[in-house]
Amino acid sequence: MTTILVTGGAGYIGSHTVIELVNAGYEPIIYDNFYNAKKTVLKRINTILGREVKCIEGDIRDAQKLDLVFSQNKIDGVINFAGLKAVGESVKMPLEYYDNNVNGARVLLSAMLKHNCKNFIFSSSATVYGEPDSVPLTENSPLKRANCPYGQTKVDIEYMCQELQVAHNDFSMVLLRYFNPVGAHKSGLIGEDPKGVPNNLMPYLTQVAVGRLKELSIFGNDYPTKDGTCIRDYIHVVDLALGHVAALKHCLNKPGCHIYNLGTGTGYSVLDMVKAFSKAIGYELPHKFAPRRAGDVVECYADPSKAKNELGWVATRTLDDMTFDSYNWQKNNPNGYED
Ligand code: NAD
Ligand code: UFG
Repeated sequence: MTTILVTGGAGYIGSHTVIELVNAGYEPIIYDNFYNAKKTVLKRINTILGREVKCIEGDIRDAQKLDLVFSQNKIDGVINFAGLKAVGESVKMPLEYYDNNVNGARVLLSAMLKHNCKNFIFSSSATVYGEPDSVPLTENSPLKRANCPYGQTKVDIEYMCQELQVAHNDFSMVLLRYFNPVGAHKSGLIGEDPKGVPNNLMPYLTQVAVGRLKELSIFGNDYPTKDGTCIRDYIHVVDLALGHVAALKHCLNKPGCHIYNLGTGTGYSVLDMVKAFSKAIGYELPHKFAPRRAGDVVECYADPSKAKNELGWVATRTLDDMTFDSYNWQKNNPNGYED
């Protein structure tokens, strides 16, 4: 049995990945400090799987606790989802972001080295490409200085991982650059549950649909795109979760630094998303145009062919699957997870 420590495993992407790890025959252990997750998610995961998944409450910055976890469990690899991820918040509290994300990854990697665990998968982001010079983005597209502390923590951790892999070349280091994760598990039992008013498009759409918010503001309709709104590569969270399984299958115990874009390769505009979402709910979702949001890139979508060729992974879920599953989750849980 291959055991994978899933830090941040109670969060949005982590919880979906835990399900797919079990489905693929891996044994996950969730390690989460519940800063941005509710304990209810654990019950939901167990209901979906029909069995219990082990969970340890802890912080990735807690070296002593990690020492105990690695001593008491035979851990073959780590997937690190633990981190803070709100762009605006990171501008207001940069030190917390560098501490939680960069220092957290450093402490975690130190514990792994100490316990001779040399398989690491990191949740990176398309944010490392900044405002792209051209699209689609390949893994060789240049990294840019990020436009916010959150984004910069991703760039910094990527460099730290690569440098560690040079120093310890028996390490298998996997950097997965996610595009825009949306959607939810088919069961409607787990999904995205942001604190406060959502910053991201899809949870905003779902909360308007269930009446928690009045209408969507579309940030900017004068961009140089087909309809004036920004273009993103939205990817279903279950496809993303399966990307981690594929990365484990191909990269476990394979020394090197393996970098993959996880996206669909298709860009949709904000208006495309509103249209697709309106189709899922059966009426036109209330929306209006508003000024541009500072820091938004115009157009960002992946060339996912490296992951296809090397990992045999492709995203198969459609835009209709993404909107339907997002809405289904929110409809079943209008107030998210309630503890
Ligand atoms: P999330 O907030 O739902 O999940 C993160 C989890 O980590 C939460 O359960 C939180 O409680 C936990 N956590 C935070 N700090 C911790 C710490 N110090 N120790 C232990 N646990 C801690 O976020 P998500 O959307 O699932 O994102 C997971 C990862 O993917 C993050 O690193 C995020 O930056 C990255 N990512 C997310 C997106 C996105 O749009 N959702 C895009 C690109 C990359
Ligand atoms: N948008 C709106 N109205 C909203 C929310 C979003 O019009 O209420 C638009 C944005 O302007 C953007 C698109 O919808 O054009 C997507 O916005 P998201 O916030 O959902 O996604 P981003 O691509 O802007 O953000 C992503 C990740 C972040 C990451 C960021 C880096 O979700 O984690 O890329 O640029 F930091």
